Amino acid sequence: MRILVIGGGGREAALVFKIAQSKKVTKLFCAPGNAGIASYATCVPIAVNQIEQLLQFAKENQIDLTVVGPEIPLSLGVVDLFQSEGLKIFGPRKRAAQLESSKAFSKQFMRKYHILTPEAEVVTLEEAAGRIEKLKMPIVLKVDGLAAGKGVVIAQDIQEAMAGLGFFKSIGKGTEKILLEQYLIGVEATFLVVADSETVVPLASAKDYKRLFDNDLGPNTGGMGAVSPAPTMTPELHAHVMTKIMQPTLKGLTEEGIAYQGILYVGLMLTEEGPYVLEFNARLGDPEAQAVLPRLKTDWVDLMEAVLEHRLDRLKLEWDDAVSVCVVLASDGYPGDFKKGEEIFGLGNVEETVMVFHAGTAQNQGASVTAGGRVLGVTALGSDYQSARAKCYQAIDRISFEGMLYRKDIGR
Ligand code: GLY
Repeated sequence: MRILVIGGGGREAALVFKIAQSKKVTKLFCAPGNAGIASYATCVPIAVNQIEQLLQFAKENQIDLTVVGPEIPLSLGVVDLFQSEGLKIFGPRKRAAQLESSKAFSKQFMRKYHILTPEAEVVTLEEAAGRIEKLKMPIVLKVDGLAAGKGVVIAQDIQEAMAGLGFFKSIGKGTEKILLEQYLIGVEATFLVVADSETVVPLASAKDYKRLFDNDLGPNTGGMGAVSPAPTMTPELHAHVMTKIMQPTLKGLTEEGIAYQGILYVGLMLTEEGPYVLEFNARLGDPEAQAVLPRLKTDWVDLMEAVLEHRLDRLKLEWDDAVSVCVVLASDGYPGDFKKGEEIFGLGNVEETVMVFHAGTAQNQGASVTAGGRVLGVTALGSDYQSARAKCYQAIDRISFEGMLYRKDIGR
């Protein structure tokens, strides 16, 4: 099979790594890919938002199956476009992807189908300041549209809430509507499922470390590390999430006339009253994918084919019992401005059993250089969190680039 992966970050590096292991694959492309992905796939210089060019590439290169990594092409309707031309593609259609691309849509959906989620009011950016003055703090501010991990601000007081609004104004697109959401106390966990519109099957759980600094301090980021499984995910909680959240979600989507095919990511807050849904994403999480996919023994191509052929109910997913720890190495300044083009040293010195997924990297005269905020994801497996963590941080000690920033407490 000739496969095209759309995307060029750490999640896609993990997807390409996993898909390259499939005996069914004869040729693998990735658009646009990155310096690390180039070791497994032919990188194609087409950006993720150029969906017409992606279609043309798929047709000209006899692609049998396309896999969508990030949310932007999903929100632009890449799946609808490919399907309208009779091409196979793995991911939800544009309407289904609204669960991620519109937080207001997703909140309304959850209310309608009685899925436990924090209270929120949806206001315009202009109305927000007036409403904030009347609300009890802390609150969570969220932009309605896609914001590349920058659309959430936790405000402890009115000053922080106003500063958050100022920040949203600077983002521009997608911030016309704002959610002012109830702040919940608890532990976050990521629950990933795959759905073929009739059946929903859980993938391994994960915990994402969203704050920039150790001990969950500092600004929110796209994710500074992940472990899988999530240490808080007991069998009882797992069963609860499946019956009270995932199955009602799929049923609700069907009632809305939305046939959901692909990965559905559920960001949970585990509170004393039970799990609340903070967000849905229409794709694998990043860095969660870098922790989850290395634990999957089942062929990812088999999984995608089972979804497209509506036979997910007959597929048995097999997982490695080992736990995984993934630490993100970021550029100093992330999630704000950062320098690019710093040479990355030591990649060849990392033990072979440790996986180094490239996220924001590029090639420059034969060397790998930094090209993004999150540069690399280093994943190690172990019999417990402690051993996986030790292996991961030993590998990180061998890697360096100017301004390299990472959390020291992932998996602790
Ligand atoms: N790590 C959070 C996300 O992928 O949205």
